Order: sequence, then C-alpha cells, then structure tokens
Amino acid sequence: MGCTQLPQREQDTHPNSEDVGVSPFSIPVAEPDIGREELKNVQEAVRSGWVSSKGPFIGAFEEGFADYIGARHGVATSSGTTSLHLALRALGIGKGDKVLVPSLTFAATANAVLYLGAEPVFVDSHPQYWCMDPSKLESLIDNRTKAMIPVHLYGHPCDMKAILRVARDHRLKVVEDCAEAHGAEYKGRKVGCFGDISCFSFYGNKIITTGEGGMCLTSDRDLAAKMKVLRDHGVSPAKAYWHEEVGFNYRMTNLQAALGMAQLAKIKGLLKRKRRVASWYRSRLERVKGLSLHPEMPWASCVYWMYSVLVESKTFGIGRDALVAGLAERGIETRRFFYPIETMPPYRKFSHGRTTIARYLSERGMNLPSGAKLDSASVGKVSREIILLAKG
Ligand SMILES: Cc1ncc(COP(=O)(O)O)c(C=O)c1O
Repeated sequence: MGCTQLPQREQDTHPNSEDVGVSPFSIPVAEPDIGREELKNVQEAVRSGWVSSKGPFIGAFEEGFADYIGARHGVATSSGTTSLHLALRALGIGKGDKVLVPSLTFAATANAVLYLGAEPVFVDSHPQYWCMDPSKLESLIDNRTKAMIPVHLYGHPCDMKAILRVARDHRLKVVEDCAEAHGAEYKGRKVGCFGDISCFSFYGNKIITTGEGGMCLTSDRDLAAKMKVLRDHGVSPAKAYWHEEVGFNYRMTNLQAALGMAQLAKIKGLLKRKRRVASWYRSRLERVKGLSLHPEMPWASCVYWMYSVLVESKTFGIGRDALVAGLAERGIETRRFFYPIETMPPYRKFSHGRTTIARYLSERGMNLPSGAKLDSASVGKVSREIILLAKG
C-alpha cells in the first residue's frame, strides 16, 4: 500500500464505528488518527519478520507507556478486557469473591470479574461527575469483598483519594479501569498510577490505538512478573514448555505495539485536541436549556474520551433517543450512554436495586462526536443541529 493512498482511506471509512466498512455518517462519533508514522512502524515490523508477540516494539511500548503514565512496569495484552482479567487473576481474585464495579460502565469491567467465578457488586454513580460514587461503597462491602474496579468513565477521573481510603480501611485490592482515560489526571497525577494495577484499552476508538490491544500497569515488580507469566500460558520463564499454572494467551503482537509506539509519540497532541473539541462544544452549547454538559471537577483534568451531554426532555423539547435519531438522519453519529450493567439479562441476578443515579444518567446521557480530528466547523455543525432539533 502506498503512503499516498492513506488520507483517502481515512476519509472514506471510520473503522472505529461498530458497522465495519464505509460509514454512513459524515461526522463519526470517534475516529483514529493514523498517519504515516504508524504506517512506517508497522512496515518496519512486517519487514523485520517479528509479526507475533516477540520483537522490539513490544518492550519499547510497555516501557514507553508505563513511563508516560508514571508506573514502573507495563504488561501489554491483546485487549482492555484481557488486561482486566489478567489483573484480577494476578491479584488472586476467584470463586466466591466479590468485586465492586460501577453500574455505569462498559460490560467488560463486570465480565472480567465473572470470568473468574467472582461476583460483581454494582455501585451507583456520582451525580456530578458520573463515575463510581465513593460514598456508596461502604454499605456494599462484606467479608467476601476483595477488590474494586473504579472506572474513569468517558475520560473523567474517579475521586481516587476517597476510593483509596475505603480500599485501605477494608483491605481491598484496587484495579483502575483506565480504558477510556489515557492521560486524564486526578489532582495533577495521571490516572493509572493509583491502584495496585491499572488497565488500558487500545481499541480503535480509544485515545490511542493499537487496533485491538491493552496494557496492565503496576509499580509492583512481582505482580508484573506474575502477569507476564499468566499472559503467556503460565509457562515458566526459566524452563521452556514447563507450565506452573494454567495461563492464557493474552499477548500483544509486535505489529500492534509498532502502531502503539507511533500513537504514543502523538498522545500529548491528541489530548490537547480533544480538550479543544470539548471547549468548542462548551462554548456553543452551554446556554442550551435542558442540556447538562460533560462535567470536569476542580480536582480533575478530563480527557473527554467521549464528549457527553445529558438531555432533560421536558426542558430541551425532545428526549435523548429522538436527538440521537435526529442527528443520525443528518449524518451525525452519536451514542446513548451505557445501560446500567445489572439491568441486562446476564447480570440481573446481581442487582440490588440501589443504582438510581446510574439509571438516571443512562436514560439521559449521550456521547457526541469526539475524535481528535474534528475541526471547529464540524463541532459547529453538530451544535447547530442539536439546537435546531431542540426547537422541534
Ligand atoms: C470502561 C471499559 N473497560 C474495558 C473495556 C474493554 O476494552 P477492549 O474493548 O479493548 O477489550 C472498554 C472498551 O471499550 C471500556 O470502555
């Protein structure tokens, strides 16, 4: 493939969209920023013959990303989901254990708990910043509770001080789910260096991408070593083909890490552009009645993975679903918020019914187009259409 073909392909397709192929939307909800540097790295990896999970890009990406976040060790994986599974398994979570997870998150957070035969306990959202509410944790903890997974939802950090206080008081392990929040900061420190282990996703719609991929970060050398063994079938690092335990194949390939290295080199610029997109939305939508805009707490630096709004149908004029549909008709792709996990069939038996804020947010929330490649004119068009639809 010649380099000259790349810009055309980028315009024609939005591979992050769930419908693979040519997107029907002129403004997609998210879009990877992939250019010549990525192509150059991937070509180099292909030419070198190191196409599987050995090769120089993997170690470099693990080290580079851990360094960027401020953790000591990186363990690259095949996805964000496998990184969560690996992290919980390395921390010894298993059958009969309970793990606190937010109700409002992507299902992978709870699935990783269920893969281990443990039980997810769903925590309600904070009404102001939408992540797990630390004040709701204590009443859900009993002697089977072993860990929690705070999720930095849609790019906004959790209140880590309050969360870590509860974790310390009840001796709970903390796995940060940073799939949506690469580079977000809590009180000036990047999320991903607060918990025992933190997990990232590099899926195509994430802040940086490796296609599919993920990473566990930790500053604990033993945990990192354990995760590396478990990631690679549980094979002994000292004795070939000797398995001390049943592990997984959760490895990242050198091709993915090659892409990741080029993305990592751009992350500061990507985050700057995403914050700029957020500021454009804020200035255009802040006076619209019935819309609550994406929050940013004073202690937070949000990366606006998905710039999001809440639609209050009575004051806005139409409901969230009608707004999503109206924008889709105008070529603008948006997404409703996640469903509270425990309202869906596989998870209903874990519902305790005390997730009213998550339910409120889920019924009103939606993600607007948020890619770093969006320009001010596109944000202007999305905002204008929202205002026109509100007027009916
Ligand atoms: C909060 C959260 N956790 C975990 C994941 C899983 O990541 P992946 O799709 O790379 O498996 C996602 C992915 O979208 C996510 O949003």
